[in-house]
Amino acid sequence: MPSTALDPLLAVDGVTVRFGGLVALSDVRLSISPGTVVGLIGPNGAGKTTLFNVLSGIVSPNEGTVSWKGSPLRGHRPHHLANLRIARTLQGLNLFANMPVLDNVIVGADRLSKVGMASMLTGLGRFQRDERRLRQRAMKALEEFGVAEFAHALPGMLPLGAQKRVALARALVADPELLLLDEPASGLSAEEVRELGEHIRSFRERMGVLLVEHHMDLVMEVCDHIVVLNFGEVIASGTPDEIRADPAVTEAYLGASAEGDNGE
Ligand SMILES: Nc1ncnc2c1ncn2[C@@H]1O[C@H](COP(=O)(O)OP(=O)(O)O)[C@@H](O)[C@H]1O
Ligand SMILES: [Mg+2]
Repeated sequence: MPSTALDPLLAVDGVTVRFGGLVALSDVRLSISPGTVVGLIGPNGAGKTTLFNVLSGIVSPNEGTVSWKGSPLRGHRPHHLANLRIARTLQGLNLFANMPVLDNVIVGADRLSKVGMASMLTGLGRFQRDERRLRQRAMKALEEFGVAEFAHALPGMLPLGAQKRVALARALVADPELLLLDEPASGLSAEEVRELGEHIRSFRERMGVLLVEHHMDLVMEVCDHIVVLNFGEVIASGTPDEIRADPAVTEAYLGASAEGDNGE
């Protein structure tokens, strides 16, 4: 069957993950189509990071399948993501501390490098042209996120907000079809969250996005579709308006905050 623009990029079907006796994800279903931002929310411990790790190839589900453009992904690992054209940013950012910002972004562009190690040794001229092209591309990505001025600094010298922009530049430099974001708003100021929201909305023209996020205002503002997890189960799935009006969602969050108040 020929694929169309409406076919999902990524489909999660009946995914269950157990850690010993604990069911971290139970029969989870969701899909992400091109040009849509899907939000994944839920109280602490709901299973959001576990699902992110399943998609990243860090955790293998006990049951169910993850499909990428209609084909099942089996045994994929994080280093396969670039070739699949899936990019992600992690909560810990994972920038290389001893590498200048520009080089960190070039690492993200690696998929586009046409020359391997062999031709690097035999064809230095070609390697240098390739290298120049990647540097230009990485610089453009830094410009897009307003952090080009830091190209030659080490990431650790930058404020957190700027480091997060560098991580986004690195994720986007290789032109992914799907972007996975794990809590990109954590630690950002209100103004930075607003700017992040604008960026995420602009990504929609180029790719699908999965946004795992605690920041409810951001999720409600930028997502086309929201999936709510609680104790590993999808308890609601719909548009921001549908999610806002869903009593099960309110109850899950109130229950979670009541638990959080137990220490009082
Ligand atoms: N590697 C692991 N081993 C055992 N339990 C885990 C592991 N990762 C997560 N869990 C448990 O699975 C549940 C879901 O966790 P997680 O996916 O991190 O939730 P969230 O990201 O929504 O806060 C929690 O009860 C957590 O303690
Ligand atoms: Mg988490």
